[in-house]
Amino acid sequence: MKGIILAGGSGTRLYPLTMVTSKQLLPVYDKPMIYYPLSVLMMAGIKDILIISTKDDTPRFKELLGNGDRFGVKLSYKVQPSPDGLAQAFMLGEEFIGDEPCAMILGDNIFYGAGLIKHLRNSVERAENGEATIFCYYVNDPERFGIVDLGPNNEPLSIVEKSPNPPSNYCVTGLYFYPKGVSKLAWKVEKSARGEYEITTLNNMYLKAKKLHATLLGRGYSWLDTGTHESLVDATNYVKILEEHQGIKICCPEEIAYKNGWITREKILEIGESMKKNQYGQHLINVATGKIKY
Ligand code: DAU
Repeated sequence: MKGIILAGGSGTRLYPLTMVTSKQLLPVYDKPMIYYPLSVLMMAGIKDILIISTKDDTPRFKELLGNGDRFGVKLSYKVQPSPDGLAQAFMLGEEFIGDEPCAMILGDNIFYGAGLIKHLRNSVERAENGEATIFCYYVNDPERFGIVDLGPNNEPLSIVEKSPNPPSNYCVTGLYFYPKGVSKLAWKVEKSARGEYEITTLNNMYLKAKKLHATLLGRGYSWLDTGTHESLVDATNYVKILEEHQGIKICCPEEIAYKNGWITREKILEIGESMKKNQYGQHLINVATGKIKY
């Protein structure tokens, strides 16, 4: 199973914050935004990950994350020459994906909830058995998103992109799992009226073939959008409150790597020691010394 983090785009909605840096490198409380989606793929058990970004920002991601050694994963990079749509990730990633199933997460999407790992692992299993998965979340402003109409058993009935008359309030979030062959299908996606290769068109192909599962993220889950100045601050405050109240860190890739058995105790301790003057480093030390229980 492969994974892609799509972390490009023009970022103009967050100007002037993103005039000289990538949106997905901005802080969300105590870590760069991309740590959150990276953590989600790692929680799914995915070790081989492609980061797609712009020509200017790709070197910055490389500088931050390197080859992934620190997190026990294998990271590679690819430039998206222009932001032509989410489905283009599978065209650009064709060689990387090869003949395997592949998940994709948007670099600015934050997911949190107690049963998330189980949902992720189930999605991997479905993808390995030929079925795609989307994750749905109730929103108050459905005109802004890809929206799915769900049947009585939460089965997807139709998906529309940014419709003025959305069929429900259930947004298709930026996390997708596809079976092998996704690139071949992605090449069949035609550009939409707004000039993008829409992920919704790709999802509708799986829906039509009756190969699309919808996982509902209901009460107990949070999906955070970081698309505006306001929502970026909200995300920071949300993470701060969660972490301070529980005395833990969320979406901490070093911790996930250690729990997955991908890095040694010595390694996480060494990383923690290098940041021991702050809470993040202290948390890694607490994980390594067994102070944090699971
Ligand atoms: O956030 C979930 C929504 O993401 C879904 O509900 C929609 O179905 C899906 O189309 C997408 O909606 P947006 O059109 O609002 O996405 P946006 O253009 O904001 O792009 C999402 C992220 O992906 C953003 O951080 C920029 C990045 N991106 C976007 C495009 C179009 C790329 O890296 N490359 C691209 O070509």
